[in-house]
Amino acid sequence: MRKRIAAGNWKMNKTIPEAVALCNDIINLLRDNPPLKEEHHVVVAPPFTALTKVAELIEPYSYMSLAAQNCYSKPKGAFTGEVSAEMLISAGCTYVILGHSERRDYFIENDDFLYEKVCMALENKLTPIFCCGELLSHRSADAHYTVVLSQLKNTLFRLNETDFSKVVIAYEPVWAIGTGVTATPEQAQDMHCFIRKSIGSAYNNEIGSNTSILYGGSCNAKNAAELFSKPDVDGGLIGGASLIASDFVSIIHSL
Ligand code: PGA
Repeated sequence: MRKRIAAGNWKMNKTIPEAVALCNDIINLLRDNPPLKEEHHVVVAPPFTALTKVAELIEPYSYMSLAAQNCYSKPKGAFTGEVSAEMLISAGCTYVILGHSERRDYFIENDDFLYEKVCMALENKLTPIFCCGELLSHRSADAHYTVVLSQLKNTLFRLNETDFSKVVIAYEPVWAIGTGVTATPEQAQDMHCFIRKSIGSAYNNEIGSNTSILYGGSCNAKNAAELFSKPDVDGGLIGGASLIASDFVSIIHSL
């Protein structure tokens, strides 16, 4: 049974005390009403500075895990300002978000570089939450399937079966991120189904059906249940709405 995941990407928000307060609010709301099923899982991705504090807070809750929002492609050395996968493990992370469109766009991270980062994460036993997704111009030109497939072929599909089986995919149409415009549940389902079939062709159907594929892009407490009700949507990567504890917990309960 594949995992169903609500992952909160806090992006560049929250000082350490603010992150502790948000995490405590989430924990308190979940304590009274924890995720119902064993396959339901909560991931929080605070900024680097708050990782160790948040790790301590979530430690007692087996359904909660810690993610970093990025890591570097090299193991260690003279790379001022970068953070390694090994450092993230030592801070308590088990997941790392890679390939987010903000990284691709603002920090010019291309597919080859992202492939190196994915390999480094896996070598260190961090689970990548790997983002893919098209621009509005791609969708308008009916090129969205081609674009997403090429992102996957140039990165995750270069992994062997064993390594690929460890990754989580997040489909995030760039036009939906932080815009308030959500993909319709049908648009999300169509793309998730396409991604799952593509995994089937690249590897096999069993790996396809075991891969968790999350939706991201203006997913919120109001639309999560309908998005997550689609057969190939296994949860969400949540930005803005994950910064409001009650909204995030309501999204978790929509899994
Ligand atoms: P959003 O961000 O939910 O604020 O649209 C999603 C993401 O960037 O992962």
